[in-house]
Amino acid sequence: MDINWLRRRPRRLRASPAIRDLTRETRLHPSNLIAPLFVKNAGAPEPVASMPGVLRHNPDDLLSHCRNLADLGIPGAAIFPSIDPSLKDAEGSEALNPKGLLHATVAKLKAALPGFLVFTDVALDPYTTHGHDGVLDPAGRDVDNDRTVAILARMAVAQANAGVDFVAPSDMMDGRVGAIREALDAAGHQRTGILAYSVKFASAFYGPFRDAVGSRAAAGTHHLDKRTYQMDPANPREAMIEARLDEEQGADILMVKPAGPYLDIIARLRERTDLPIAAYQVSGEFAQIHAAAKLGWLDYERTRDESLLAIRRAGATIILTYFAAEAAKACAARP
Ligand code: PBG
Repeated sequence: MDINWLRRRPRRLRASPAIRDLTRETRLHPSNLIAPLFVKNAGAPEPVASMPGVLRHNPDDLLSHCRNLADLGIPGAAIFPSIDPSLKDAEGSEALNPKGLLHATVAKLKAALPGFLVFTDVALDPYTTHGHDGVLDPAGRDVDNDRTVAILARMAVAQANAGVDFVAPSDMMDGRVGAIREALDAAGHQRTGILAYSVKFASAFYGPFRDAVGSRAAAGTHHLDKRTYQMDPANPREAMIEARLDEEQGADILMVKPAGPYLDIIARLRERTDLPIAAYQVSGEFAQIHAAAKLGWLDYERTRDESLLAIRRAGATIILTYFAAEAAKACAARP
């Protein structure tokens, strides 16, 4: 009863590039990538120190950048405003200004590139002096859920009026997806979708983004604590509850964020929902690959591509990534 273990040789399927291509289970394709982009009022493109190669664009530059992305086969962009600090207040009221930077930029973009998809965050952090995603309770101690949800519903309608394809609530307030769906429908925006940041963790990996939009605690403290609304990184079961609530309330796409450190959450969610899953490879995930490559400790392109492939393998159909343009070029260059 001798078993010859070597009758099964999995290495046969790894023997050449052609066999590996033939049997590959997961692929990266530009059509699955969304580029997060930053827009500012005017002036030359500005680099973001902790995000190499990422720029804050003025609206005209942003438009030509989006043309390039579309030419690379990237279907859309998530646009984040970096507004003049003088426009910020405790209520984030600039978020509702129909002529504000974000709305004007989106209108221009959709007029010039109607087929290119535009996603915009529904959360107050680029607009508030304190940097929180909502408005504070009278004692100033916590974000007031229900008052914030009412503002976010109006914010979503303002973005839909500007022409976005998907609003993307990233605030983690309870009940916001349902309230936003209702407000959009009441305003005649049945066709505007909701990409819900359903499972958004209170993550240290958001640091560089907060530099990019200038939401890093204008209040003075360096560390902005969002743990009363963003999720505890320790909680996979709670993550499924959040996702289920958003699905019930009418989300069209569910998102997990960050992506790389939370592949187990993506995989678990993939088994529980039939909706498309998006994952946001956030600023800190991008920055750490750049930093290690700059030190000569990691191979930049291989690490970049592997980090994205891993997110697809875990079960995400859509990836928001600052590597979008480069990764799309790399896909095109591959035979
Ligand atoms: C704001 C928002 C954040 C990100 C996207 N939308 C930051 C935060 O919650 O503080 C992070 C994106 C990134 O780090 O790339 N609601």
